[in-house]
Amino acid sequence: MGPSVPASADLGSPGLSLTASRRGIKSYVLRSGRTSAAQKRAYEELSPRYCLNIGAWDRPLDWEAVFGSPNPVTVEIGFGMGIATAQIAQENPDRNYLGIEVHKPGIGRLLWEIDKRKLDNIRIIEHDAVEVLERLIGDRTAAAFHIFFPDPWPKKKHHKRRLIARPFTGVLAEKLTGGAYIYLVTDSEDYARWALAELSATPGLRNPYGRAGDAGGDMAGAGDMAGLVDSGFAPPQSWRPLTKFEAKGLAQNHRIWELYFIKNEDPVPKPGKEGR
Ligand SMILES: C[S@@+](CC[C@H](N)C(=O)[O-])C[C@H]1O[C@@H](n2cnc3c(N)ncnc32)[C@H](O)[C@@H]1O
Repeated sequence: MGPSVPASADLGSPGLSLTASRRGIKSYVLRSGRTSAAQKRAYEELSPRYCLNIGAWDRPLDWEAVFGSPNPVTVEIGFGMGIATAQIAQENPDRNYLGIEVHKPGIGRLLWEIDKRKLDNIRIIEHDAVEVLERLIGDRTAAAFHIFFPDPWPKKKHHKRRLIARPFTGVLAEKLTGGAYIYLVTDSEDYARWALAELSATPGLRNPYGRAGDAGGDMAGAGDMAGLVDSGFAPPQSWRPLTKFEAKGLAQNHRIWELYFIKNEDPVPKPGKEGR
């Protein structure tokens, strides 16, 4: 079944506001990157089936209509070539995956993987993820966010382009159901420490690997887990496949930093007088 998002107009719908601080500031630059013949063919033939034509859609997506199943939805921001995305989706047929990316050759590559592996639990949106989240994903509807090797924007003057920054981290938190998670991996120590600080300061999230006493932390972190974990960072998640940018980082002897945050459960409403 094809995605049931109607094609029309553009995303600019009045009355819906972007996180003010990010207006016009993108966390990516469109890379020219060569598109192979196979990626081009996959894009042309398969995008009508697997890419959501969001057009002027300005209401939260109905996951069941999009995927044709009520399974929990993991949203991946910036899947790159999408090979890890396809592998994770193949290994988890009881979950659905929405990949958001702006890099066309990568979208072609993921479409090719979807076809090769005969996957029906992935859909793609070709657009800026910041806008997609703010406009198209309902609050408390996402089961997870995967963000693998986000662009690190190392220069100080470019820090404002970093995806993981408040207030956008608050948007991520808002979109998650209680108990759902954000899993981020990077090979940039500076970005890792920055993201740890931003996510730790985001209301509604807690860090199961945080040091006792840290905002949002629930356990001692430094030195735990056979020295794998620096304070506040998660141990490597064995289920995550290697990604293209991870391989590049490893080739330069970069350490891989993993962050894992959990959305707090919604508070149970206190009974009113009449409830006692
Ligand atoms: C450094 S690459 C990592 C790709 C892949 N996750 C990997 O590990 O190989 C970052 C990717 O995020 C995408 N990206 C960055 N900001 C984005 C945004 N706001 N919306 C959608 N994609 C974004 C870029 O186009 C790029 O493909």
